[in-house]
Amino acid sequence: MLNTVNTELLHRRFKVMGKSSPLFYERPLQLVRGEGVWLFDPEGNRYLDVYNNVPHVGHCHPKVVAALHQQASTLNIHTRYLHNNIVEYMERLTASFGEDLSMAMLTCTGSEANELALRMARFCTGHQGIIVTDFAYHGNTEAVAELGTGFMPEAKLTKRVKSFAIPDSYRGVSGVDEADLADRYVAQVQQAIDEFEAEGIKVAGMLVCPDFANEGLLTVPKGFLERATALVRKAGGVLIADEVQAGFGRSGKHMWAHQWYDLTPDIVTLGKPMGNCHPLAGVVARGDMIEAFSQQAMYFNTFGGTPVSCAVGMAVLDVLAEERLMENAVSTGAYVSAGLRKLQQTYSLIGDVRDLGMFFAVELVQDLTTKQPAIAEARRIINLMRERGVLISTIGVYDSILKLRPPMPFQPEHADILLSTLDEVLYLVSQETSA
Ligand SMILES: Cc1ncc(COP(=O)(O)O)c(C=O)c1O
Repeated sequence: MLNTVNTELLHRRFKVMGKSSPLFYERPLQLVRGEGVWLFDPEGNRYLDVYNNVPHVGHCHPKVVAALHQQASTLNIHTRYLHNNIVEYMERLTASFGEDLSMAMLTCTGSEANELALRMARFCTGHQGIIVTDFAYHGNTEAVAELGTGFMPEAKLTKRVKSFAIPDSYRGVSGVDEADLADRYVAQVQQAIDEFEAEGIKVAGMLVCPDFANEGLLTVPKGFLERATALVRKAGGVLIADEVQAGFGRSGKHMWAHQWYDLTPDIVTLGKPMGNCHPLAGVVARGDMIEAFSQQAMYFNTFGGTPVSCAVGMAVLDVLAEERLMENAVSTGAYVSAGLRKLQQTYSLIGDVRDLGMFFAVELVQDLTTKQPAIAEARRIINLMRERGVLISTIGVYDSILKLRPPMPFQPEHADILLSTLDEVLYLVSQETSA
């Protein structure tokens, strides 16, 4: 399906946004409409969305749109007035966590949520040091950019952040078992704590995405996160779980990805799927931390958690439950991952397939033994998929991992389109590389 690229719009964009403003695909895609798991270009061509997690319950879900419209045409105001939507949404949200995580604060973006979490952790512990992975992305504000070890120059300059190697069971040192691997990564967290202390800095916390999603949806050695958290707590720090990408039931079995582990974070940050594309994000934390922080440091966010945003947030929770989308993440997720594993049998380009509910990572390698990342092949594949009407992208340290993370109403019939198109494209790319 070769659509026309709107070069006139593209050049206008370059003029006002610059050529480096990120834009997907070699032939950029203009979109004008979305519905469920489908996106449409101006020529009426449809594209299967296997990438976007923000339209969590489906693009332009009628129930979410109606809730937004109804509240926007009645009243919108900030959180310094009493409003039922604000309280009811926070009650419903916190009820989905364990009882220790009993209070919330709302923001507009995941970056703001992480920024607030950092302030809260630093305020409540009286410490400054933050530990992250060495391929982290947690957002774009100044303090959060300091954590962006994979992407942001600020991360190299700060003394307040230390990182440990991504706990990657696929690319981790081979020849050792899972327990040894966990030991090695736990030791790196201890090393970060020790290095901080040697520099006179105490640890305020460790901030990680429980799915290690931007790192490549890693399979983390069992016990690693629990043991690393214990070390951080022993040093006086807290655990911040960044659920901006991982949360709201995407992993299927649990509403929150940290619930796969045997631990409770002190602070959890939320965003992306929370408002189904409406800017809604926030922090859920231990009540004592939110109380202590807010007594000293006034936090107010003009657009964070307005009655309109909360109406949208509640509609998202309703649709998630009514349409049994978490159950769908388990069943359709299993169907997709079985299909991907079948492709792995055919194509040696696929080194590893990882999945968690409705989230899949297909790690591409040039050689199954050396695991040399297939970077150019990954780029070629996402562009060929786009030309065939299926939208995916890449992640990971080398950008060699296909990232598949469709809206939650993704069904087996959609999976069949994804899998047959990927089969065709893998065949083409394998032919090209062997030629
Ligand atoms: C794990 C994670 N945390 C935080 C953010 C930042 O969220 P936002 O873009 O809403 O500021 C992102 C965005 O990609 C993310 O992937």
